[in-house]
Amino acid sequence: MTQVPRHIKRHDGVISRADRERLLGQRGAVVWFTGLSGSGKSTLARALEERLTGTGRLVYVLDGDNIRHGLCADLDFSAAGRTENIRRIGHVAALFTDAGVLVLTAFISPYRSDRAQVRQLVGDDFVEVHVDADLSVCESRDPKGLYKKARAGEIPEFTGISSPYEAPEAPDLRVDTGRQTLAESVAAVEQLLAQRGLLSVSPKQ
Ligand SMILES: Nc1ncnc2c1ncn2[C@@H]1O[C@H](COP(=O)(O)OP(=O)(O)OP(=O)(O)O)[C@@H](O)[C@H]1O
Ligand SMILES: [Mg+2]
Repeated sequence: MTQVPRHIKRHDGVISRADRERLLGQRGAVVWFTGLSGSGKSTLARALEERLTGTGRLVYVLDGDNIRHGLCADLDFSAAGRTENIRRIGHVAALFTDAGVLVLTAFISPYRSDRAQVRQLVGDDFVEVHVDADLSVCESRDPKGLYKKARAGEIPEFTGISSPYEAPEAPDLRVDTGRQTLAESVAAVEQLLAQRGLLSVSPKQ
């Protein structure tokens, strides 16, 4: 990673994060979904987005498939490419949080150390959700036909097949999409956010 030149200093405005949160009547936070391909990260993030938008909140989903078309289009799926992908997303998510937005992210994010870095960057308002489903379940779903291609050797470095997935050891929440319904998983995340005060209408103190 390149160093920031010494003459570049941060420049803060008069309007604070609390001002923006007050304006929006919500808290900025990150709900970070991690799990194998096909585990249900995007499905869950979109369902939660719909649910929370319906209750009057400004929510934004950052999704792996979309980000890889633009911001991270230059990155590959090597270990270094994946780490850089998550580093960039982490910074984007932190900026959105500072803007007062409730961010939902849907990235495989296979490495524990990468996720830990994002947690450190975002701070208290980071909620890690392990979208857990057995590899066999994910592979049988294969919504994008990627497992089939990976097994045929057409996609190298595919998580769970030819590239590692480091499951969270202590996630804030674990949802088992092989056994729970989508509605149950959405409700569990919403309940956790409420418990943490992240659905409060007053700004962070
Ligand atoms: N309980 C459940 N929760 C979430 N998804 C489920 C559930 N049961 C079945 N599914 C199905 O599993 C698939 C999950 O696919 P989805 O695209 O959300 O996975 P993903 O984790 O985002 O994968 P990728 O990392 O490849 O983007 C969908 O086809 C969804 O309909
Ligand atoms: Mg997805």
